[in-house]
Amino acid sequence: MDNTLRLSYLEAMGIDVWLSKTPLSTQPARPIVECFEKAAEQAVDEWALLATEVQQCTKCALCQTRTQTVFGSGNTQADWLLIGEAPGQSEDQQGLPFVGPAGQLLTEMIRAMGLSRDGVYIANIIKCRPPGNRDPHVDEVVNCRPYLQRQVALIQPKIILAVGRVAAQTLLNTDLPLSKLRGKVHMLNDTPLIVVYHPAYLLRSLLEKRKAWQDLQLALQTIKIIED
Ligand code: URA
Repeated sequence: MDNTLRLSYLEAMGIDVWLSKTPLSTQPARPIVECFEKAAEQAVDEWALLATEVQQCTKCALCQTRTQTVFGSGNTQADWLLIGEAPGQSEDQQGLPFVGPAGQLLTEMIRAMGLSRDGVYIANIIKCRPPGNRDPHVDEVVNCRPYLQRQVALIQPKIILAVGRVAAQTLLNTDLPLSKLRGKVHMLNDTPLIVVYHPAYLLRSLLEKRKAWQDLQLALQTIKIIED
C-alpha cells in the first residue's frame, strides 16, 4: 500500500502517527551485528595504534638501553588484568611480559586460580626495562602512564591484580608498604583492584606463599561477587 494512503487511513481512524524528520528511505539501516563489527574494528585499530606508539616511544631515557619495548600480552577482552612493575632481562629480550623465572611462577599462580595466561591480560607499569632491574624512576612512570591507561580503557577488565609493591604503590598513588595494601579490595576508578605479592619476591621468600594464595583467593571471591 502506498505510504500516503496508509497515513490517511490511520489519520481517519484517529491514530497519531509519529513521523521521523528524516525520511525512512534515507535512514541508514544499521543492523546490530554491523554496529558490533564496527566497534570491534575500531578497537582493533586502537590496539594497533597504541602498540605502534609504544614500540616507537622515545619519551624517556630507557629507549636508549632497551632491546625492545614490552607492550603486554593475552586476551584483550579479558576480565582479569594483571599489572606488574617493569620488564626484566628475559622480557626485554623476548618482548613479552613475565617470561623469566618470576613469570613462570606467575603462570602457576594464574593456573592455581583456574585461569590461563591466554585468558587474562598481562601488562606492566612501564614498557621498557630499567637497567639492572632498578625500580622505575618517576619520570619513566609518568611518561608511560597514558599507555597503561589506554590499555585499561580498551580492556575494561572486571578486576585488576597489582603484582608487587611498585605496581600497587603506583596504581594506588601511595607510599604505603605492600603489607598494608594487600588483603583489601581497592578501587581503581570503578574497577576493584587486589594487591598480590610479586612472584620474584615469592621466589626469594617461599614462606610467604601461603599469604600469596590468600591474596589470590580474595581476588577470586571479589570477582565472584561481581559476577553473581
Ligand atoms: N617483573 C615484572 O614486574 N614484570 C615483568 O614483566 C617481569 C618481571
